Amino acid sequence: MSEMLARARACESHAETQIRPEERPVFHLSPRTGWMNDPNGFSWYQGKYHLFYQYNPYGPRWGNIHWGHAVSSDLLRWEYLPAALAPDQPYDSFGCFSGTAVTLPDGRQLLLYTSTAVVDFVPEGKCIQTQSAAIGDGVEYRKISSNPVLTAEDLPEGADPYEFRDPSLRKDGEEYLAIAASRNQLRGTQVVQFRSPDGLRWEFDRVLVESRGRIGGMWECPDYFCLDGRQVLIACAMDMEEETGAFHPGNNAFCMVGEELSDGSFRESALQTVDHGPDFYAPQTMLSPDGRRILIGWMQNPAVETAGLDIPFLGQMTIPRELSIRDGRLRQTPVRELSDYRRGEVRYHDVQLGPEELSLPGIRGRVLDLEFTVSAEPGQYQMFRCRFARKGDCFAELRYEPDTGLLTVDRSTAETIGTKIMSRQTALQAGGSGLTVRMILDRYSAEVFADDGMTVMSLTFYNGPDADAVTFSAEGCAKMDITAYELDREVGSEI
Ligand code: FRU
Repeated sequence: MSEMLARARACESHAETQIRPEERPVFHLSPRTGWMNDPNGFSWYQGKYHLFYQYNPYGPRWGNIHWGHAVSSDLLRWEYLPAALAPDQPYDSFGCFSGTAVTLPDGRQLLLYTSTAVVDFVPEGKCIQTQSAAIGDGVEYRKISSNPVLTAEDLPEGADPYEFRDPSLRKDGEEYLAIAASRNQLRGTQVVQFRSPDGLRWEFDRVLVESRGRIGGMWECPDYFCLDGRQVLIACAMDMEEETGAFHPGNNAFCMVGEELSDGSFRESALQTVDHGPDFYAPQTMLSPDGRRILIGWMQNPAVETAGLDIPFLGQMTIPRELSIRDGRLRQTPVRELSDYRRGEVRYHDVQLGPEELSLPGIRGRVLDLEFTVSAEPGQYQMFRCRFARKGDCFAELRYEPDTGLLTVDRSTAETIGTKIMSRQTALQAGGSGLTVRMILDRYSAEVFADDGMTVMSLTFYNGPDADAVTFSAEGCAKMDITAYELDREVGSEI
């Protein structure tokens, strides 16, 4: 093991003792210490789910990027393993950026990641980006001697050596395929595909999709898979302009649903945002042993301002979500394993909502699973409000306006860290006076699954632990059915 990796491991095993379990989210993976961004190497390996992540063990800010590592039997209760990769080689000295994992025929696990390095001629703010491999047994990983395995020389003419990253691996019969994002001076961002007989020796296969100036600047973190008979490409576009109701200013994770043609090229037929909340980026998917396509994302706005922050850790992942296609669009629902942690069911029918803030006996707490339906005759209410993580004037809010179909998450009255983005909204596909929501609250987050998972919004906030009230109200009058559960880490199956 390199000195750098040993140092990171010593640092994280000491630093984690300084963080009390009550300070962490209950079901959302947070970094063992320091900083977390993208999920990496999301996989099922040797009987466990493995999740690696972009990781700075030395502080709550991006830089010095390692791979952190955790495992789980059910995608919800995670156990930390020692950091897996450190930026300890000349070709990855600027950071081990994002990548993915597959199991090799001999039972070892292969990680393919973006190795980054700053050398003399590299312009300010840039790094050379290549792809490298490491092979391991689920805990210890060794980088191979022929790294890097892919460089800009393997790319079509016009490729930018500073913008080539985030390989996503998959098996294709006996062979391996990997896609990656690459900026091309002639054609914008390209999602490029490579082919390999062994996961180590790679050659260029094809350009899968080109941005041609559409959908933001550089794309990152592509993922490509078949789902319910359709072909899906998920990627993240940087520096987007706002497009009302669709994309937000800044970085957005988007999804293209389409077809794979007989010549292996991808034809897009629909484009959508993956998650409309302010805190979602860089998702990765994997196929569970029982055949579900499961997505996990980094639940943090990538533009978070971390200068001067003095906190032990920053960042968390979303709840893993089961994906499906409905009416040609992506649908996401929390993994079914979450239901195993429900306890203390409370149900109300036909609750009359009006301007008075209503709190319902038994519905209180910070780690909750709420399912509610709001209904009314057309024109009877103008706004529905649910305030949560609440103590007096400190709360986060979900709002719905039936006339416009706009759903809003708002944290302008909540405690936040390093953000100026206080709210986000999107128009529901269905719209109208009915609203159906499942909302998962954990200590520092709310994930809103509206219309049975057709619209999703993720939001983080940092209200004190005693802000645990939940209230409901309406401008006008509406009716609500609600079922609420506490989510309790001790209730579910043992790891
Ligand atoms: C996305 C991203 C990836 C890159 C990684 C670096 O958030 O920029 O493209 O590999 O983060 O940490």
